[in-house]
Amino acid sequence: MIALYDTLARPLLGLIEPESAHRLAIKGLKVAPLPNRSDDDPLLAVRAFGLNFPNPVGMAAGFDKHAEVPDALLKLGFGFVEIGTVTPLPQPGNPPPRLFRLPPDQGVINRLGFNSEGADAVLRRLAARAGAGGIIGVNVGANKDSKDRIADYVRQIELFAPVASYFTCNISSPNTPGLRDLQQGQVFDELLSRVMEARARIHRKAGTTPVLIKIAPDLTLNELDDVVGAARRHRVDGMMIGNTTVLRPPWLRDRTTAHEPGGLSGRPLFGLSTRMLAETYVRVESAFPLVGVGGIDSGETALAKIRAGACLVQLYSALVFHGFGLVGRIKRSLVDALRSGQYASIGDLVGADAAAMTAEAWPE
Ligand SMILES: Cc1cc2nc3c(=O)[nH]c(=O)nc-3n(C[C@H](O)[C@H](O)[C@H](O)COP(=O)(O)O)c2cc1C
Repeated sequence: MIALYDTLARPLLGLIEPESAHRLAIKGLKVAPLPNRSDDDPLLAVRAFGLNFPNPVGMAAGFDKHAEVPDALLKLGFGFVEIGTVTPLPQPGNPPPRLFRLPPDQGVINRLGFNSEGADAVLRRLAARAGAGGIIGVNVGANKDSKDRIADYVRQIELFAPVASYFTCNISSPNTPGLRDLQQGQVFDELLSRVMEARARIHRKAGTTPVLIKIAPDLTLNELDDVVGAARRHRVDGMMIGNTTVLRPPWLRDRTTAHEPGGLSGRPLFGLSTRMLAETYVRVESAFPLVGVGGIDSGETALAKIRAGACLVQLYSALVFHGFGLVGRIKRSLVDALRSGQYASIGDLVGADAAAMTAEAWPE
């Protein structure tokens, strides 16, 4: 079924305007008769922030923003699915066109700007599948016109606690003006205080729901020092590195599309996001686990993220160019790497190259 989709439907989707293609893909996943997932190789099991992941390959936020197809994505083989970003109130996001492919670079630029059906609609969908199992993370954000952005994170953590396996606070989208300022100084400190208080409040009612922070790959190393210091002080459960970049590498081949404002993802993001992951790993000193995101499009790139410091990985853009069959290929490649090196688990490889990577020349 997945192979059929990748051979027939995906090349056609590649010819359609990107946002329409995305809507069609979601519609397709709603009706596709997908077989139940087969068990993952036990070598791929990862335990992180109190959760047991059957495999470390997750669907990144932004594909299923409104929780329309989380179970279809789990059936496609992902070890976990992150829905969202969700905002408390519905909002349309930026005017189209706002999603662009860069085929020669295997990159994507988006400036969607948190188009969200809003928390109530998403909560209804997740409540309807309660008990279906699988790890579903809820990625939360703030409304564009919010008077108190931090309150938007807190409210949604309280609201989604009964249905979320974990939370990601997305404070790194480049497409909501001023959102990335939440990563700075006192504001970041206040954000962490208030979301970790919310985590403690829900803990009393619904048990522990881990809270992760998703950062931008564009922070300076001084800013990263501060971010990691505050995250450690506030004992967050984990960090995701990271979101899309506002930078444009000089070697991009699709120069025309490269000028579109927005966040760049996919292959051109791999070097920067992997380096920032390694820089984060050496600063975190195993205080909490890291999720590696950005430019994963093969078993090798997934393994490189793990060796840079991630115990879990996520991907999105590569699916546009390679289809969902990529998930199975990455998992098989990881199993092969573990077997051939006689490693007992992913954990044996986490961060193996981090220190060496931080000594390399800065990636362009
Ligand atoms: C079209 C699109 C929409 C995205 N929307 C979100 C979002 O709503 N929230 C979020 O945290 N990240 C969002 N992202 C970022 C991805 O989750 C991921 O961090 C980034 O794309 C890097 O991974 P990739 O290179 O595998 O795509 C989006 C990415 C794309 C391409």
